[in-house]
Amino acid sequence: MTGISFWLNGLETHIPEAESPTRTLLDWLRDTGGLKGTKEGCNEGDCGACTVILRDETGARAVNACILFLPQLKGKAIRTVEGITGPKGEMHPVQAAMITHHGSQCGFCTPGFIASMAAAHLNGDRSHDDSLAGNLCRCTGYAPILRAARAAETAPIPDWLEKDAGFICPEISSGGEAKGRGGQTAPLTPTTTDALAALYAATPEATLIAGATDIGLWVTKQLRSLSPVIFLNQIKDLQSITDTSEGLRIGAMVTIARLRAAVKTSHPGLAELLRRFASAQIRNAATIGGNIANGSPIGDGPPALIAAGARLHLRQGDTRRSLALEDFFLDYRKQDRLPGEFVEAITLPAAPDLSCYKVSKRFDQDISALCGCFNITHSEGRITSARIAFGGMAAIPKRARGAEAALIGQDWSETTIRHAMRAMAEDYQPLSDMRASAGYRLAVAQNLLLRYFLERSGVETSVLKVAP
Ligand SMILES: Cc1cc2nc3c(=O)[nH]c(=O)nc-3n(C[C@H](O)[C@H](O)[C@H](O)COP(=O)(O)OP(=O)(O)OC[C@H]3O[C@@H](n4cnc5c(N)ncnc54)[C@H](O)[C@@H]3O)c2cc1C
Ligand code: FES
Ligand code: FES
Repeated sequence: MTGISFWLNGLETHIPEAESPTRTLLDWLRDTGGLKGTKEGCNEGDCGACTVILRDETGARAVNACILFLPQLKGKAIRTVEGITGPKGEMHPVQAAMITHHGSQCGFCTPGFIASMAAAHLNGDRSHDDSLAGNLCRCTGYAPILRAARAAETAPIPDWLEKDAGFICPEISSGGEAKGRGGQTAPLTPTTTDALAALYAATPEATLIAGATDIGLWVTKQLRSLSPVIFLNQIKDLQSITDTSEGLRIGAMVTIARLRAAVKTSHPGLAELLRRFASAQIRNAATIGGNIANGSPIGDGPPALIAAGARLHLRQGDTRRSLALEDFFLDYRKQDRLPGEFVEAITLPAAPDLSCYKVSKRFDQDISALCGCFNITHSEGRITSARIAFGGMAAIPKRARGAEAALIGQDWSETTIRHAMRAMAEDYQPLSDMRASAGYRLAVAQNLLLRYFLERSGVETSVLKVAP
């Protein structure tokens, strides 16, 4: 059978191949599926009004339907707010709790909140501040909503939601050259890395689509028509994380949420940074490969991975090459990537001294003004190695080579650190933009090095902690 098959609120659903491959789930639900409970707020992944629950063999998670393309649904189960309510109109415990605790006023944001709360409830996730950071409410205020989420914590999972775990993954088309709506070429959906390598080498003009959290906006905001496209979401061997002698080898299609869980113990500094990466919905879709390949100077993954000493693995056809991650970024949005070449994986070495600091206007769900990552080792009072990388300080994620040179071989002392802070002024000539001025960026970058030193020396630096 050609087209896209998935489960929608417990019913097998089929979308014919004639649909545009970059039609979003939100658009389809509201215009074709007749399900208008899922709302459109921002249409760019920021507000959470369009949140739905997506489930597959790796579990259930909240995602934004406004930047989820139809071919990304293949073989998955989706629950919209209509299907979070039971088949006979029974309320889900989080819905009942929202009523009891007065968690809704105008109600526009409520379906999205319900989907995020039901996903967290399904996973036994009680970190409500984190799981609801991607849902915006303009009228109720968060206290009643958080009270409702807490009140529903121990209620049993409704059996109609449990049923989704046993969904059958239908055998579906693996793509082809047929013309879709508007004359677009149908999406190519390889299922192995080898197949992707062959396809992309033969179609280097194609746009690769991973989690679509960047590309979604090219379609919904820039109204771009993308063709041809290659979807990477069916490629299981790009989703693996393996322990190797050089470190963790992380496939390009590993999501930020899975990466965060995988490095929680081994790289706690990185895991904490990833908690501040966008929102739960975005982290559940966005991939580390997409975060690197898009070449953004303000992406959060690259500075942390560069400071940790990560290596990037690229593949074009049958040819593979590896390079230090920092060497991939050549100039503003210009990467060392050949036509038909794609990111296959990264290797993340152990980095026990890694700490990362994200500075943004909002604590949650905000893009970095700057992101500083430090990995400095010292032995018997002498600094033996130093890797410092920043996002938001240059046209690319960039190492602070001058500051590093001022540290290596010197005493692990505040005097050395202050010397390196001065050297950092030669490393970066940041820009002023809507997020921060050049002067602010440089002063903060220098002070973050001091903060790293003080923290590593046991001094409390967090202004969020209240002293007794
Ligand atoms: C609301 C919102 C908040 C965000 N907040 C943050 C944030 O806090 N921090 C942050 O860093 N980013 C943030 N982002 C940006 C985005 O989520 C990340 O850059 C994400 O990691 C992109 O991954 P993706 O899988 O969605 O990539 P996609 O959108 O699918 O692709 C992005 C680019 O990478 C290319 N690509 C993807 N995979 C590969 C591959 N394997 N090989 C070669 N090319 C590939 C695509 O062709 C495209 O050019 C945010 C985005 C949104 C919408
Ligand atoms: S409509 Fe705002 S996140 Fe989708
Ligand atoms: S209840 Fe009105 S926006 Fe949340």
